[in-house]
Amino acid sequence: MKIRIALLSAFLWLCSGLSAGEVEVLHWWTSGGESKSVEVLKNLMEEQGHTWKDFSVAGGGGESAMTVLKSRVFSGNPPVAAQIKGPSIQEWAEEGVLTNLDQVAARGQWDSLLPEVIKHAMKYEGHYVGVPVNVHRVNWMWVNPAVFKKAGAEVPTTWEEFAVAAEKIKKAGFIPVAHGGKPWQEATIFESIVLGIGGPDFYRKAFVDLDQATLKSATMDRAFTILKMIKGYTDKDAPGRDWNLATSMVINGKAAMQFMGDWAKAEFTNAGKTPGQDYLCLPIPETQGKFIYNVDSFVMFKQTRKEVQAAQNDLAKIIMEPKFQEVFSLNKGSIPARLNMDMGGFDIYGVASMNDFLAGSQANTLVPSMAHGMSTTPAARGAVCDVVTNFYNSEMSAKDASTSLAQEIQAAY
Ligand code: GAL
Repeated sequence: MKIRIALLSAFLWLCSGLSAGEVEVLHWWTSGGESKSVEVLKNLMEEQGHTWKDFSVAGGGGESAMTVLKSRVFSGNPPVAAQIKGPSIQEWAEEGVLTNLDQVAARGQWDSLLPEVIKHAMKYEGHYVGVPVNVHRVNWMWVNPAVFKKAGAEVPTTWEEFAVAAEKIKKAGFIPVAHGGKPWQEATIFESIVLGIGGPDFYRKAFVDLDQATLKSATMDRAFTILKMIKGYTDKDAPGRDWNLATSMVINGKAAMQFMGDWAKAEFTNAGKTPGQDYLCLPIPETQGKFIYNVDSFVMFKQTRKEVQAAQNDLAKIIMEPKFQEVFSLNKGSIPARLNMDMGGFDIYGVASMNDFLAGSQANTLVPSMAHGMSTTPAARGAVCDVVTNFYNSEMSAKDASTSLAQEIQAAY
């Protein structure tokens, strides 16, 4: 792959079709709340005199965007910047196609401004190749309190309580769980169940170390069983539904809750809803004080033209500036990636998330999201998502699912 990319990139400036200072940015932020967030970056770049060429590829979780990215890079026409994260940053860096961001990082003192886990994820062989945008927390439960009230149900903190509440909600004529039946959404719920019942060490053994015994353990069987129980409380139209449409069901009172990362908050914000009143945001049952992180970031693809290189440096610089870090996260539902930010403008959930992130960072209990490509390679992530979704959509037993999880991961290597 390396030689192919090197040859093609020699003709890159000819094929790019970009005009001076034009920055083509690949991302998958297309929902109402996400689009508002990306607008913040676009405006800041335009203030610097650059032209923003939006290259959005719809599809939550970014799988479609990554497929499109591959074909663009392999045809010698990569975008100027792309939303990429986790270990796939290192995979792209290994191909020799990413711009080194060390100079802009040194000028901006990124080393002293970023938490360890984030710094580590942005570097390849000690050099910065990625710039972090924000930190999302994955293990959140979005609650419509009015629906719970009408159903006479208590907001659950354990899976046992969840089953009791879900039964009441169902009897009262509401959909207990708004779900989008797509592999990445099922994997998003599954990893939170695993963290809750197994704890951070178990989670890391499973989704970072990919340890065979852990993958086929009794705890993993239990996680699959809980996932199937949740399915019983979703509606028949869930298959194929986009995550933000599931969020709308909670917003408009059709459904009582959704298990989703805090990008869902952007939809509540966009709909003018008040946190703590119109909606509640609480840890998924059994994950109180636990934190699955998902860091959005951008990489820049090597460019030959000076003005485009300058635009890449400006983009990286802007992303790390406090102004962008704050405004973007306020729109996106996340928290800043940069340390020591003033959290005064954030709501109770943003403040709580930052406190938990910092405490988890100290206690070494933060865990990277498997479903969102932070914990392992795309190949291993793909194997987990396949098994989880096959289990979710079939009569497979929990035991067979965990056995298959271990086998598929082994085969992915
Ligand atoms: C995640 C990404 C978020 C959000 C979400 C849904 O992978 O980190 O920023 O966009 O997908 O699309």
